[in-house]
Amino acid sequence: MACILLTGGAGYIGSHTFVALAEAGHDVVILDDFSNSDPGVVARMGRVAGREPTVVRGSVLDEALLGRVFAEHRIDGIIHFAALKAVGESVERPLDYFSTNIGGLMTLMRAARAAGVWRLVFSSTATVYGDPGDRAVPETAPRSHTNPYAFTKLTCEQMLEQAAAAEPWCVGVLRYFNPVGAHPSGLIGEDPRGLPNNLMPYVAKVAIGALPELQVFGDDYATPDGTGMRDYVHVVDLARAHVASVEALLDGRAHTLNIGTGRANSVLELVEAYGRAAGRALPYRVVGRRAGDVAITYADPSRARAELGFEATLDLDAMCRDSWRWMRAQASGFRLNDPE
Ligand code: UFG
Repeated sequence: MACILLTGGAGYIGSHTFVALAEAGHDVVILDDFSNSDPGVVARMGRVAGREPTVVRGSVLDEALLGRVFAEHRIDGIIHFAALKAVGESVERPLDYFSTNIGGLMTLMRAARAAGVWRLVFSSTATVYGDPGDRAVPETAPRSHTNPYAFTKLTCEQMLEQAAAAEPWCVGVLRYFNPVGAHPSGLIGEDPRGLPNNLMPYVAKVAIGALPELQVFGDDYATPDGTGMRDYVHVVDLARAHVASVEALLDGRAHTLNIGTGRANSVLELVEAYGRAAGRALPYRVVGRRAGDVAITYADPSRARAELGFEATLDLDAMCRDSWRWMRAQASGFRLNDPE
């Protein structure tokens, strides 16, 4: 059993990772400023896991606070989720992204180093591959960036590489493909503020009736149905990958890994699958392409299997079913014991 610090642990991926860590018998301390999460999630995380996490409210930019966290808890490893993640917003407010994402990692590493904590899992993204084309993309593919968000993630990867060359860091870089879905309990899930940027949360809001229709960004890509294809990965699988990653670090095994299923689904396939989960065909309209989108991206997941024994097991229907259960549970104010 280890004690793991989760920065951004009240967020979408962080909350599911807390549950997976608790199920694996680990202690968790969460640091979160609740800038993009609802404090009410903590009690629901506790309901799912059978015990509430220790939560410290604050920012990864607050080095004095981080010092106190490391002084008060015997932290064995860190999973660093806390970051800004909206591509469009990053184009409008690049300095905020540099400060929170790059500055946040640097502050965290300085405080961790002072406390002698060298094991860190970093939340990265398949977006560091730019446009890898129609092939299962391996971790060795060239990296590039086309927006400030992607720039910050790539820069953080490089900071970690250079720090690990000079100091005893043991780092796990996880490059997520497209995380979707929710916990099957219906108690935790993705809760974007305002209009969702990403496909599944948008489709979910159409299904629940909060938005009238989905706009499909282009049907003239070189894919079988013309719409963009992505490697959607269930957030519960992704959470398990974090447990395997931090456990590998505790064992001294650093790694850089894709986390995806190795399969790609189109926008229309996802809309259909969500419609099956929700029990009705969902309205959509094809509009022009979104700037910066690529036709297709999917992972070569073989290194994660070889190095962590990790394999995604949940399919697109499970992702849609669990997202839909979460949407209905939220709409009912979590009053139903079984929102099914
Ligand atoms: N799409 C629509 N309509 C929408 C939203 C999306 O048709 O309203 C389409 C997109 O064009 C794309 C697919 O749905 O073909 C998936 O789009 P998302 O925005 O859900 O996901 P992206 O692959 O564009 O981006 C996501 C994250 C990024 C991350 C990237 C990594 O948003 O932060 O995956 O590949 F960097």
